[in-house]
Amino acid sequence: AFPNVPQAPPDSIFQLTARYVADKHPNKINLGVGAYRTDEGKPWVLPTVKKASRQLEENPDIDHEYLPITGLPQFTKAAQGLIFGKQNKAVDEGRVISVQTLSGTGANHLAALFFAKFYEFPTDKKEIYISNPTWANHNAIISNVGVTPVSYRYYNKETIALDFDGYLEDLQKAPERSVILVHGCAHNPTGVDPTAEQWDKILDVFLQKKHYAFFDSAYQGFATGDLDRDAGSMRKFAEKRVPMLVCQSFAKNAGLYNERVGALHVVAADIKEAERVKSQLSVLQRSEISNPPAYGAHIVSMILTNPELFESWKNDITTMSGRIIEMRDALFDLLNDKLKTPPPPGRKDWGHIKEQIGMFSFTGLNPDQTKKLVEEHSVYLTGNGRISMAGLNTHNVETFAKAVDEVVRS
Ligand code: LMR
Repeated sequence: AFPNVPQAPPDSIFQLTARYVADKHPNKINLGVGAYRTDEGKPWVLPTVKKASRQLEENPDIDHEYLPITGLPQFTKAAQGLIFGKQNKAVDEGRVISVQTLSGTGANHLAALFFAKFYEFPTDKKEIYISNPTWANHNAIISNVGVTPVSYRYYNKETIALDFDGYLEDLQKAPERSVILVHGCAHNPTGVDPTAEQWDKILDVFLQKKHYAFFDSAYQGFATGDLDRDAGSMRKFAEKRVPMLVCQSFAKNAGLYNERVGALHVVAADIKEAERVKSQLSVLQRSEISNPPAYGAHIVSMILTNPELFESWKNDITTMSGRIIEMRDALFDLLNDKLKTPPPPGRKDWGHIKEQIGMFSFTGLNPDQTKKLVEEHSVYLTGNGRISMAGLNTHNVETFAKAVDEVVRS
């Protein structure tokens, strides 16, 4: 029936996990997928999640009935609070609507689909602007719904830092009311975020050009270790009434990777618009997944609404973000001071490893060096030179640094 279906390439990120698993090398290292690992290199079930799931099991009111189409109400409400804060005008005015989604990917998809169907794009082309580079899946998610992803400048390869002027210039050049996808914090894949002052300037251009802010928030808590601070950009945009939405994931910050728990929050102009938007999202959701899965949503809503669990979760986040920062320091010390590895062209040192934040580091290694790391050293990382810092630990960081040193000098 499908004689002409071409063979698709494997997923750039998940194929690394598969290759890593199949590799027999005793010192193999997986720095591909963005998933937290302990210092022993093992996946981590957050102690808070364990506590919550025990409580959930004992709750006699939990059953396996369908959730409402837009999800578990106590989850969506609490998740909304985590993004927008306890006191937010848009929330108080009833202008924020929230729908539970299949993690961040599901939120991005539902949002992109909604735009494809209902947004009055500024030109006759349906386009969503994405940072260059961005999470590889953004391209696919946007293209899948018949919208064209268009790149804006974000990252300067020479300095391995933000191309702030290029970023602002491209925002200025885009037609008024363009849809711009921005990362709430801990930019994936670069680990390069604007400073608070730069965010203010970005916000000004959004206001001036009436752009729509399509926020992806997959790493709240991972940038600074502080949930409120990491939501700063989004809260500011909401406060200044930039038209916006937020795609939220609990995969990373709650370690609930396979539970697919996330939400889409849309900030509407008024309560009537909010109701209409929610009604259409509900129709879309029904035809796609009928209703979202309950388990992860129960766990997260318990964590967010029970003060004891919430405090315990914040500690878990500090554990994760703290260990990642330790690895940044260790890697920097090894490359910069111990091995004196020549830094990437354009940099005088390896300081970018420490300056970058969140789960990832954009090392500045070129595709050739990256390939050598994979093929000759069994160190798995994406072709753009991104490493998941969480894959490093006190047992393998030196092996990794030595491998980098070797491919850089070869
Ligand atoms: C990543 O970028 O590694 C993660 O967000 C996992 C994924 O879904 O790609």
